[in-house]
This record gives sequence, structure tokens and C-alpha cells, in this order.
Amino acid sequence: MSHQDHHEAEHTPFRMETYGVGEEFYRTLNAQLKSLIEGEPDATANLANASALLHQAMPELNWAGFYLMKDGVLVLGPFQGKPACIRIPLGKGVCGTAASEERTLVVPDVHLFPGHIACDPESASEIVVPLFQDGRVVGVLDIDSPVTRRFGEMDRTGLEAFVEVLGRHVHL
Ligand code: SME
Repeated sequence: MSHQDHHEAEHTPFRMETYGVGEEFYRTLNAQLKSLIEGEPDATANLANASALLHQAMPELNWAGFYLMKDGVLVLGPFQGKPACIRIPLGKGVCGTAASEERTLVVPDVHLFPGHIACDPESASEIVVPLFQDGRVVGVLDIDSPVTRRFGEMDRTGLEAFVEVLGRHVHL
């Protein structure tokens, strides 16, 4: 990716011709993530840029960011969107459930998820992907959409690859 492409990727909103659809979308997104964080050791900077990339590249989102495990509780980390709840105990809400079950949760309609924590009343669907380091959950990636059924299998696979890239470059 040239310097100019890199610059554009960081500062322009979603364009179909850049990101494509389906697998191509996630190939481009994950290559951009790698180029953004490679060589930078600061975890906060990298998670901040990762959430900004998701928020500007993925259509129909109202929140994208991270909760990080601190003393057994998920604590709000870098994100893009409205101010959110700060602490989520393990097993609570979509984030705490994904972290305790150590698996990605795709929630087509948050209103039907028992115990869903509503930070932004606009959120209608959600995907939460755990971040692993040395085999342990160190946080979660949380993405919300105002559109019901916004996320599917392609997003699960693509975003699990996204957090794998993060896990290789960001040490929490
Ligand atoms: N809905 C999440 C809480 C975090 S906000 O969506 C940013 C949950 O139920 O865990």
C-alpha cells in the first residue's frame, strides 16, 4: 500500500470500490489494520486506531470498540461512538457472556438477548469477539449496529481474523 493509499484509508469514509463486499471487504480491512499498527508498540494507540478503522470502514454501525479485562472485570477501552457503560462483569451482557464463554456472539436482535446492556438505545444488533493472548481472554471487541440482523457468519470470520491480527501486534 502506498503512503497516499494509507493516508486515504485512514481519513475517508466507507467506499465500496475500496472495500468491496464479503471476503474481499475483510481482506482489505485486515490488511489496513496490519499496516496501521505494525511497528507501533503502544496498545492504546493501536486499539484506538483499530476502533476508528472499524467505525469508518463498516457501514451501518453506531459503536465500535474494546472492553479490556482488568482484575476479572471488563473495563471500557478505546472506542468510537456515544459514551458507554464503563464496567461489565464477566457473564453479564453480550460482552461479559462472550468473554466468559470464550467465543464470538452474534446477536441479531439485542432486545431478545436476556441481560443485554443497553448503552446506546439506538443499538439493534451486535457482535462481540473475544481477544485472546497466551490462550486467555484479555478483552473483547464489541460492535453495535442500529440495524437488526446487521452481522452474520462472514462478519464472525472476518472479525475473528481482525482480532487475530490485533493479538499478534498489541500486547495487553
Ligand atoms: N451491549 C453491550 C454493552 C456494551 S455497549 O453495547 C457499547 C453488552 O450487552 O454487553
